[in-house]
Amino acid sequence: MTHTHSPELREQLGLLNALSPQIETLIERHIEQRNLWFPAQLLDPEEREELAERARQLPQSVRAGLALNLLTEEGLPHFHRLIAQHTGEDSAWGYWNNVWTAEEDRHGCILRDYARDAKVFDMLALEKLQYQYLEAGFNPQWHSDPYRLVAYTSLQEKATQLSHANLARLAAPHEPKLQHILSRVAADESRHHKFYRDTFALLLDADPDRALRAAWAVMPRMIMPGHTIPGYRQLSDIAHRAGIYGPRDYAIIVSQLLDTWRIAAAHGLSHSGERLREKLLGLPARINKLAELVTSRRSQPENETTPFDFLPGSA
Ligand SMILES: [Fe+2]
Ligand SMILES: [Fe+2]
Repeated sequence: MTHTHSPELREQLGLLNALSPQIETLIERHIEQRNLWFPAQLLDPEEREELAERARQLPQSVRAGLALNLLTEEGLPHFHRLIAQHTGEDSAWGYWNNVWTAEEDRHGCILRDYARDAKVFDMLALEKLQYQYLEAGFNPQWHSDPYRLVAYTSLQEKATQLSHANLARLAAPHEPKLQHILSRVAADESRHHKFYRDTFALLLDADPDRALRAAWAVMPRMIMPGHTIPGYRQLSDIAHRAGIYGPRDYAIIVSQLLDTWRIAAAHGLSHSGERLREKLLGLPARINKLAELVTSRRSQPENETTPFDFLPGSA
């Protein structure tokens, strides 16, 4: 942590450093609980023909969801950088960033290997999108605030968990192999979520006012990392209608986090911290109201003909 920073940021980084022993304990817990698997264990090159045969039965919404989840995973370099810019290699955080990146990297690999083996997409068209996504960069409003980063990753790991798990459920009747793969990925996301969630709880305990400000900065509206991908909006509309991921899921995530973080019982707050706490506690209702609006606007029957050049048969 050697950059030149504002006093505010220096204090935040100082606290993250001071919390190293607790972070190490969370990393140890994670490593004990994880189930390390490898893409080559889940896909057999001998089965490609069968895979492609079964994948032909996948509904377009599942294919679109798979593209969305795969592209989201492929944004990993952005996230590695965002975490690394606040951590040195020699800290517990630096170690976590490497462990986490190594685990996440398998997600993009396995989904891509599956999609290629099962011939789900026009791979060239999909690779072009992935390229654009990485080339465009990703600098959300929290990029220079490590507390916001931890709040954001707490939300995002849960969002990806739900999205992979729901997609697994929808794929199951057509392709048990895809269900199995997505379930493995979802289980990883759940463990990552626990790490970030419990790290943020440490920040709340040690620096409650600042932690609440960070939560308030990212929670009202989560910007998904892939939002710069061309066609992202249409893909996420399909995911929403198909029950893969939508604003109602987000309201549940926010509500669960506020509960787990015991925001209602947060103590040691300044006057403005108290006000922020009340605003945070009102968020699930506010997001649900928005979700209702969005859902009624998007309740038209699914448009199976939405064209994506990476989805054969959709043009
Ligand atoms: Fe992932
Ligand atoms: Fe993850």
